[in-house]
Amino acid sequence: MKIGIIGAGAMGSAMVKAFEEHELLVCDRTLKKIEALGIKNGFTDPGEMISQVDVVVFAVRPQGFKTLAESIKIDMASKMIVSVMAGISIKELQAATGSKRVIRCMPNLAIKVGKGVTAWTASDAAGDNFRNFIQDTLGRVGVTIEILEEQIDTIIAISGSGLAYFFALTETLTEAAEKMGIPTKQAHLLAEKTLVGSGQLMASESRSAGEWKREIMVPGGTTEAGIRELKKRGFDKIVIGAAEAVQRRAKELSE
Ligand SMILES: NC(=O)c1ccc[n+]([C@@H]2O[C@H](COP(=O)([O-])OP(=O)(O)OC[C@H]3O[C@@H](n4cnc5c(N)ncnc54)[C@H](OP(=O)(O)O)[C@@H]3O)[C@@H](O)[C@H]2O)c1
Repeated sequence: MKIGIIGAGAMGSAMVKAFEEHELLVCDRTLKKIEALGIKNGFTDPGEMISQVDVVVFAVRPQGFKTLAESIKIDMASKMIVSVMAGISIKELQAATGSKRVIRCMPNLAIKVGKGVTAWTASDAAGDNFRNFIQDTLGRVGVTIEILEEQIDTIIAISGSGLAYFFALTETLTEAAEKMGIPTKQAHLLAEKTLVGSGQLMASESRSAGEWKREIMVPGGTTEAGIRELKKRGFDKIVIGAAEAVQRRAKELSE
């Protein structure tokens, strides 16, 4: 299968690994980002690339999609369309491309290291071959779940943006270490390697995050004092509020 990605930014370039068993073409405004990915089939004209592929992957910002779609003069009706864009519905993708075979996916950036979470949903006309193709391809760079299209804004709020919440927590933990007198370099190491260790523990056994938390949280001990303070200061509300804000923003983008 010949695949063409439009947009070699953060997500487009992360997706390259998923398609490495296929012939891959990539288009961006300039060839610089494409060459940096080691891709030889680079294009700056989306139409020129699309005319040569079976599957078109839209990985541009949603705000730029309308202008991009209007600039493409070639017929896309026979192409399989994949979108990773937030806020552009299957219906809108079908109208803009003329193709009935559309799959929307919501990966997170961890696909870059083969540990992504990708939720996907397909149009009625997508067909089994296309559905299997997307499941196999994205399964190569992490776990996949099939969802309903109306759930996509929630998925963005949980796994799409979720990585950033863990990074924000790690950043704040680094600041806490510095505030308590640990030199900057060591503060980064302590907080960041703790994040890595948490992820690896989670991956090592089929226990929930709550179970791991309780394993560390000895009753009456030090960790329990910290977790109690987090709760007292509204940690749960803050995290749920953040997820709701992402969901609202995703809805706004689709209006
Ligand atoms: N980043 C994430 O973690 C993540 C997660 C899930 C989904 N997504 C989705 O992925 C999409 C891309 O996000 P991103 O973070 O990868 O954005 P990004 O880093 O800005 O990448 C978009 C790339 O597309 C290029 N581009 C824009 N318009 C183009 C056009 N008409 N022709 C060719 N290239 C064009 C941009 O070039 P210029 O910079 O020169 O404009 C840029 O290199 C978004 O719709 C987002 O919703 C992102």
